[in-house]
Amino acid sequence: MQLRTKHLLGIRDLIPEDIQLILDTARQFKEVLQRPIKKVPSLRDITVVNLFYENSTRTRISFELAEKRLSADTINFSASGSSVSKGETLLDTVNNILSMKVDMVVMRHSATGAPHFLAQHIPAAIINAGDGINEHPTQALLDALSIIEKLGQLKGKKIAIIGDIMHSRVALSNIYLLSKMGAEITLAGPPTLIPRHIQEAFGVNVTYNIKEALEWCDVANVLRIQLERQNQVLFSSLREYNQTYGVKKSLLDNLTKQILIMHPGPINRGVELDSDVADSGHSIILDQVENGVAVRMAVLYLLSGRREANA
Ligand code: NCD
Repeated sequence: MQLRTKHLLGIRDLIPEDIQLILDTARQFKEVLQRPIKKVPSLRDITVVNLFYENSTRTRISFELAEKRLSADTINFSASGSSVSKGETLLDTVNNILSMKVDMVVMRHSATGAPHFLAQHIPAAIINAGDGINEHPTQALLDALSIIEKLGQLKGKKIAIIGDIMHSRVALSNIYLLSKMGAEITLAGPPTLIPRHIQEAFGVNVTYNIKEALEWCDVANVLRIQLERQNQVLFSSLREYNQTYGVKKSLLDNLTKQILIMHPGPINRGVELDSDVADSGHSIILDQVENGVAVRMAVLYLLSGRREANA
């Protein structure tokens, strides 16, 4: 089986069969990661550059580890400390790197569409590791794998995505993926952080009441307030946000069923999510991080054009 796409720019471009193939392959790689020897030769002779124009902890380490586990050669580039500060364009930077015979580019950029632009101009396979407020496809894939591991499937499951929907690429990629795979979605948060026409555009539910969202859902995916992307005041204070929209232990204690709590990280503890929830038995946040490596191995492997997992 092969992916129908040459790049992973967004979940928007994937068909359900592609998503399923990535998740199935990730599960095989997860088995590999349980073994004493975690390295496979699948990407030997493939060179990958990790091009990070924006800060990252988890995603960057996760991609790098995935590449190493697959025996790829890797180069790390971060915009700070590079010739970008001397005025070099994105295309020039990438063409210079590619002339050193690089096969794949993993890219994070604060501009929406940056990886799509590159895909039109360079021959290497591109994996979007987050572009502005647009998409973060590998995050949605690892979120999906984490939900399936706990609940068996996505179809028919109720997922609440809570918080700063407006500025979150994680939200958009999750909305595409979950709706393609037949899950039900409710978006919850303050009206100023939920785009006005999203309900009609994506066929999702919207509520401004966190209690209602938590009562409805099987899984709550809680998102960080993206203060760095907000150029106006969208809520009165972080303290008030926490009181009205924060996910708190008292809210979970009042539910009649157990729900799963997810968060892509980094968590603003005490703002969108309280510590006693983030660290509780409800939380699968560290499972998400673990699954990130297997999902990224799957994406790298499938896009590298090899035929079957060398597990
Ligand atoms: C997310 C991102 O960078 O989009 N984090 C991540 O990749 N784990 C979410 C965030 O920054 O809040």
